[in-house]
This record gives sequence, C-alpha cells and structure tokens, in this order.
Amino acid sequence: MKTTVFGNLPDGREAHQYTLSNGAGVTVQIINYGATITSLSVPDRNGKMADVVLGYDSIDGYISGTAYLGAIVGRYGNRIGKGQFQLDGKQYRLTINDGENHLHGGKIGFDKVLWDAKILGDSCIQLQYVSRDGEEGYPGTVTLKVTYTLTEKNELRVDYDGATDQPTILNPTQHSYFNLSGSFNKTILDHLLMIEADGFTPVDKGLITTGQIAGVANTPMDFRTPMAIGAHINDPDEQLAFGKGYDHNWVLKGTAGRVRKVAELYEEASGRLMTVFTDQPGLQFYSGNFLDGSAKGKNGIAYQRRTGLCLEAQAFPDTPNKPQFPPVTLRPGQTYRQTTIYQFSTQ
Ligand code: BGC
Repeated sequence: MKTTVFGNLPDGREAHQYTLSNGAGVTVQIINYGATITSLSVPDRNGKMADVVLGYDSIDGYISGTAYLGAIVGRYGNRIGKGQFQLDGKQYRLTINDGENHLHGGKIGFDKVLWDAKILGDSCIQLQYVSRDGEEGYPGTVTLKVTYTLTEKNELRVDYDGATDQPTILNPTQHSYFNLSGSFNKTILDHLLMIEADGFTPVDKGLITTGQIAGVANTPMDFRTPMAIGAHINDPDEQLAFGKGYDHNWVLKGTAGRVRKVAELYEEASGRLMTVFTDQPGLQFYSGNFLDGSAKGKNGIAYQRRTGLCLEAQAFPDTPNKPQFPPVTLRPGQTYRQTTIYQFSTQ
C-alpha cells in the first residue's frame, strides 16, 4: 500500500493518505483525517477510469470544509432534535450546530479529528478513533474502528466496530458524495436511483424526523424501481420543500443486522453502476442540496448544488427521541457493528 503525507494539521501533526488498489485497476484513497475517502477511481463501460467522489486537493479543504465530503460522521450521523436526549433517565445535551439541532456529531465530529491508522493488507486499512467521555456532550468513552477493504470484485467494504465504557448512543456513517459521471461540473439529476424501501421517515421543517413512517407509493419518494433523481425533485411536495430536495431516510426492506442489497445508482452515459449493500435499518439519500459553489474541490472545481449525492447507511435520524425506531444505545460489553459495501460494475 502506498502511504504519503497529505498535509499538516494546525497543531503540526501529519495527516497521511493511503492508496488501496486492486488487480482491476480500481483505486481508493483514504486519509486518516476524518477517516475520509478522498478519491475512488472506477472504470466506465469502456474501461476508462474516473474519480467518482467529491473531495478537496489539500488538507486545508478538509479542515475548513463544512459539507463532510467523504468522511465518517459520528458519533451520530444526521440530526438529534434540539441536541437533547435521555438515556437511562438521565438528560444529555449535545452541541447545537445546525439551527437548533445537533448534526453529524457536533462541531468537532469524527470528520474533524485525526484517526490512528493500521495497514492490515495491501488493500485493507483500519482507522481507529477514541472519542472521550463528554465529547460534544455524549456520555462514555467510545472506541470506534473503521476498516476499509477494496476487494478484487470492485467492492469497497466498510466495516465498523465500536465499544463504550458507559451507556451511550452510536450511529456512525460514511458521507461520500458520488457523481458516477466523474465530471464534477455536472449535476447528479440524470443518475437513476433505486432504493429497496416501501417507506421513509418524514421530517419537519428543521429536518427532524416526526416519528412516523410514511409509504413511498404515489410520492416523489418512490424509488422502488429505478428513477432519475431529477424526475420529481422539483415537484410541489412538502417533504421536498423541507429538504430543498431529497434529504430523507428510507426504511430499508429486509432484516436489519443482515447485509442485503439496498440501493443501486446508475449513470447511463458512462455505464457506471454502484450497488449498495448494508446491514443497517435506514439509508439517508441526500441529493447535495446545500452544496452552493462556495467550496473549491479537487482540480479547482467549485461544487455547485446537486453535483454529488450521498447514500448514508445508518439508523434512523433522531432515534434517541423516537423509541419506536430501531435502537442506537450501546452499553459496556456490547459491540456496535456495521457493514456497508459499495460495489462498482458497468452496464
Ligand atoms: C444531511 C444534510 C446535511 C448534509 C451536510 C447530510 O447527511 O442529511 O441535511 O446538510 O449532510 O453535508
């Protein structure tokens, strides 16, 4: 595995970049800052390689960036209403960093810290972060390991393993923005998306889940068969208005805890197809609505609205305040596990 210095943090520590590659010429680059995927090059139907994830050229982009490009977010992916929750009868207050709510772990979430890296093989790297008791308001010291493996089947596998020394909540996710065209000055509106879900979790105007599960049938949320993302994104629909586009959690079919196929993303011009597998109960589909051209990405390209999309495998947003949702509590002696796989092929 190739290791290079990616840059220095303000305190002088070095961030490293690791390049994973396989026999098919697929390469994935990962930095230990935020356990972030910085590039992912996969072939089109003619074998031409292109990078299909948004990112920055330098560490400074990742340090000052506010869009979580490519990072592992946590402790809690997505929002916790008013940044408050109760656990075992005790009230906790988290950092408020999104309106009146808590988003993606707070001001200094897992995306803004340096992880310890351990090379486990030619195309396998494990990153570990120890999040101290009280960090961003969360109880318990949590140790999270994230292992990235690039397989010979053109799969990027992400395995999570977490433990705590006090009861807490844990719900990390991978926040890569994909654009399968490899051209980051194009939007993702022509990508076809399929999500294996009959329902989604509606939100209020602050993007906090209401606690209900709504059917996708006869709504713009119906991705049960492949649909262009742009087909209904501008429909007059309250949920789309709240999200300024798609920014919702789909309730995945099948049994949570078992890895199953949950989504497919296809870009016709290149023929690139990404299939997502996970053992998580939910998938947040975010259509990059808040990208606004203010951040200059790789090769100096400013990322405009909807030039990338995220498919974030996770528990449902605001679960700590929604006891009817699948639980996110982690207790001493238990192990948090997640496996999510992004598989690349062409059609
Ligand atoms: C959320 C968006 C948020 C974005 C930040 C997504 O996962 O769903 O609401 O603005 O992350 O980049």
